[in-house]
Amino acid sequence: MSSNKERWGSRVGLVLAMAGNAVGLGNFLRFPVQAVNNGGGAFIIPYLVSFLVMGIPLLWVEWAMGRFGGKSGNHSTPFILDSMTKAKWFKYFGVFGIWTNLAVAAYYCYIESWTMSYVMHSIGRSFAGLSQLEVANFFTNYLDISTTTTGIPFEAPIFYVLCLLLNTWILSRGLSGGVERTAKIGMPLLILFGMFLAFKGLTLGTSGASPQHPDANAWAGINFLWNPQFDSLTNPKVWLAAAGQIFFTLSVGMGTIHCYAAYVKAKDDIALNAMSAGWMNEFVEVCLGSLIVIPIAAGYLGLDWVKQNAGFGMAFQTMPFLFENWGPFLATLAGVFWFGLLFFAGITSSLAMGTPWMGFMQDEFNWGRERAAWSFGLITLILGLPTVFLYNYGVFNEYDYWAGTVSLVVFALAESVLFAWVFGMDKGWREITEGADMKVPNFYKFIIKWVTPRSEEHTSELQ
Ligand code: PHE
Repeated sequence: MSSNKERWGSRVGLVLAMAGNAVGLGNFLRFPVQAVNNGGGAFIIPYLVSFLVMGIPLLWVEWAMGRFGGKSGNHSTPFILDSMTKAKWFKYFGVFGIWTNLAVAAYYCYIESWTMSYVMHSIGRSFAGLSQLEVANFFTNYLDISTTTTGIPFEAPIFYVLCLLLNTWILSRGLSGGVERTAKIGMPLLILFGMFLAFKGLTLGTSGASPQHPDANAWAGINFLWNPQFDSLTNPKVWLAAAGQIFFTLSVGMGTIHCYAAYVKAKDDIALNAMSAGWMNEFVEVCLGSLIVIPIAAGYLGLDWVKQNAGFGMAFQTMPFLFENWGPFLATLAGVFWFGLLFFAGITSSLAMGTPWMGFMQDEFNWGRERAAWSFGLITLILGLPTVFLYNYGVFNEYDYWAGTVSLVVFALAESVLFAWVFGMDKGWREITEGADMKVPNFYKFIIKWVTPRSEEHTSELQ
């Protein structure tokens, strides 16, 4: 039995930490790009269906598994899974729930470190007076370790290490003293910054924002995303992208939700908490995530440009240039808000990626929190170095594909089968509804047992 006695400080703190876990770079960088590349309005329906048949059920399943495991002193997926079945081998599946996090953290913290540097460059007005190409090149040079054009030698690796140090330090302060406190500060600020930028996106208007592109129109971007189109509903590629986005954005199939929920008290609600955090993520993704990059870029450069250039570099290569249209003061403010928002989104997620490893070491080897946190920082650093130094060789994309996409679906499938079929749906339903502060619709019992595992199987076959 472990000596791990960590607990959440308050319900609000727990929900904000869980929402912070889910709300991440995926909401602002991945969602708009996936939506544009998969036909805009054509993407939204599969996305919403995936949320209803896989996202919501998995949230309940993972929260329930976590709280259940926590009762026997287990805070990471290998032994949470083990506590649910007599079959001894299931725990090896749980290793996914640690490994995925380490691998995702490695490249995720790298992006997070760019946002720290870009806040600094926004304050320092590094982008003032640069052409669109020059701002784009600034980013390319930033990633090219051998150049020092940004003014700081080895800037990218330095910020990467700083970012890991910050994560490690917060993790070493513990769950309520570190993770929860960061979420309580970061989440409200993120929403505030996001509302400001979304307001700018919404009010950019229908024409005339940019003299070089007289036809550019911010509303064309919004309409493109929000006019549902039914023709691509039969396209498996769109379904795969939509389901993949739901997994990534909700942080399901990762092991982090189990771990956070394992620190919830045995009789506390999980049903409503899961929905609060999950829907908060959807609000941020669907409302704020779709109203910033796409309309602002469409407003100045035109929808066609957006369609041709949609990629996650847009956030770093294009946004700082476009903000300059708003004059020095607002451009600086928007830069700080945009990269600050990305930073808070990122850090509240990367902290979540650290906790399963820490929980495992604390439970199984009786490690102290500091040692567990520093070892996480070190492993992430080692795993992350190839993404930093070999970025141009596509290493980064490999990480995102294997750790950030395939592994989530495989693990989610395994845990759904375990929960509904091995542990048993009746027991499982009791776990979900025990202490619930909301009525969980009964048809979800059916969905969790029959629909979710089948949908996951289909999704994994599409890959
Ligand atoms: N959900 C996060 C996002 O949207 C990603 C994440 C992955 C968070 C793994 C925690 C664990 O960016």
